[in-house]
Amino acid sequence: MTALPPDPNELTPRIKITTLAFRQKKERGEPIAVLTGYDYPTSMALDQAGIDAILVGDSLGMVVLGYDNTLPITMDEMLHHCRAVARGTRTALLIGDMPFMSYQISTEEAIRNAGRFLQQGGMEAVKLEGGRERLDTIHAILGAGIPVMGHLGLTPQSVNLLGGFRPQGRTAVTAKRLLEDALILEQAGCFSLVLESVPARLAQLISKQLTIPTIGIGAGAGCDGQILVTHDLLGLFDRFTPKFVRKYANLHTDMKNAFAAYIADVKCHSFPAKEHTIEMPEEEWQDLIHDLKN
Ligand code: KIV
Repeated sequence: MTALPPDPNELTPRIKITTLAFRQKKERGEPIAVLTGYDYPTSMALDQAGIDAILVGDSLGMVVLGYDNTLPITMDEMLHHCRAVARGTRTALLIGDMPFMSYQISTEEAIRNAGRFLQQGGMEAVKLEGGRERLDTIHAILGAGIPVMGHLGLTPQSVNLLGGFRPQGRTAVTAKRLLEDALILEQAGCFSLVLESVPARLAQLISKQLTIPTIGIGAGAGCDGQILVTHDLLGLFDRFTPKFVRKYANLHTDMKNAFAAYIADVKCHSFPAKEHTIEMPEEEWQDLIHDLKN
């Protein structure tokens, strides 16, 4: 991975975002903006736009690779995309999402795989799903010097256990358990916590009780930061759009229109035009014709 040089168009030079900066932003009450990234050009655009962190999420499996859920994605697939994102990023904090079965089997495997995100993927932190049941794993990864982001609420890798992609913490009992888990993850040393698909007032309560920043997705405005899946925000993934997404573009439609226009241009010979063609000096052309005739 090679770090990108400073952007010459940058008006105010941006400084590198670290896990410490995350905490400081919460202390200052400055909202943290996070998006997912899976490739080089998108991470370049995210970084240049000033995003605080890029999560190479295992949502990659669904929105880029076309799987039905996040379970099939492997470490090697994740690392392939992490490297591309790292090559396109200069200042955003880079977080790699540990895929299903990369941290659940043993703490040894969890450390090894978390280490691969930093050594082979160019990431600076990892994220993993789950609460109190992940304590040993989180301690072990932190013990290797790797920052960990937690993920509570709707944890997509447990979709089969949860009975679908459904909101979590809607009863007093499950909400209390979520709050307890959040406190346990903070105590364990996580630098931040994703709260996915939980009631807004619960997310706000948790955010107020924690000193580490919460990053919400479908968790209301009371979190310390927000994250969305970039393909949802861009309207690039049209299989379904969760209720909590705000679409800032409609790139799937734009792409289809651009492809249809290209196809039409090729079919009616209007592409390529003169400005897209390479000329050969007339003299060379005449020499060639002459050669071919003799
Ligand atoms: O995989 C992912 O993109 C995520 C975010 C939705 C938090 O885990």
